[in-house]
Amino acid sequence: MGQKILVTGAAGQLGRRVIHHLLETYKVPAGDIIGATRNPEQLAELAARGITTRRADFDDAASLAAAFAGADRLLIISTDALAQKGHRLAQHKAAVDAAAKAGAKHLFYTSMPAPDNSLVSFAPDHLGTEQAIKASGVDYTIFRNAWYWDNFLHSLPHSLQEGKWYSSSGDGRSANISREDCALAIAAGLASATVERGILTLTGPQLLTTEEIAALAAEIAGKQLQVVHIDDKQLAGGLASAGLPGFFVDVLVSADANIRAGNFAFLTDDFRKLTGKDPQSARSFFEAHKAALTS
Ligand SMILES: NC(=O)c1ccc[n+]([C@@H]2O[C@H](COP(=O)([O-])OP(=O)(O)OC[C@H]3O[C@@H](n4cnc5c(N)ncnc54)[C@H](OP(=O)(O)O)[C@@H]3O)[C@@H](O)[C@H]2O)c1
Repeated sequence: MGQKILVTGAAGQLGRRVIHHLLETYKVPAGDIIGATRNPEQLAELAARGITTRRADFDDAASLAAAFAGADRLLIISTDALAQKGHRLAQHKAAVDAAAKAGAKHLFYTSMPAPDNSLVSFAPDHLGTEQAIKASGVDYTIFRNAWYWDNFLHSLPHSLQEGKWYSSSGDGRSANISREDCALAIAAGLASATVERGILTLTGPQLLTTEEIAALAAEIAGKQLQVVHIDDKQLAGGLASAGLPGFFVDVLVSADANIRAGNFAFLTDDFRKLTGKDPQSARSFFEAHKAALTS
């Protein structure tokens, strides 16, 4: 394609895998890829392979003009600045503004499913960023990534040890996806001159309830796991007493509430359209991560 592709957050877990797939799966020449990160020294290995690395920190808006110069296709990876309300949206708006001013021809962004109809505490960050992108006048493709399967690896080992999964998600369903599949699909979009403009929602292949996810994880781990249905207040109390910070309690409780309300019940074909493959199933993901589940 001969266009310069810039990936922000290039040292993060998703950013690294997007660049991996640009290089290895979609055979984009290293000279056409720019990895932008707060810490370019973390990308020394990629720099040695011929990728341009640059410093880009959304908190330092003045640094972004130089960081984004010459980028034709620019992926803004949403940040993890959730602790302070409004911080992340301000970061993303600075990035969108700088990308437009730098002359980017096509913007890409990692959002979440239906941020305009969501109970999730951080949905306004994504909605506000999507609106800023639309208002920028630049062509765009927004990837609305479903909840990662990988997130479950933080909580499921403990739940499996206890034999209990406390949840307020009721019988709501979601079609989670692996981070790796998100990276593959995003790289496919970045590398394709004909990628769809607008919004793509990246989901896994099945809508599952928490009970169904628990049954699968238990079967693969060879353990018992009972879902204990509680309300949002009880869940918040339990997470807070386990020592989680308030903003993260809000994230987890609001995500369960969003599932219960049916607002995460999306199943799309967008992953397949981008990659020509089926997304990884829950069973396959848990089998591949059996050691982490039982650790
Ligand atoms: N769908 C889901 O279930 C799910 C789960 C977790 C996260 N996410 C979202 O998806 C993003 C990528 O996920 P991940 O798994 O790669 O998370 P991660 O490994 O925690 O990465 C955090 C990302 O935020 C970037 N970042 C933080 N502060 C920044 C700043 N001031 N300026 C520019 N970039 C900044 C980091 O970039 P550098 O370190 O390279 O500067 C890094 O790419 C997350 O940041 C979050 O918004 C989605």
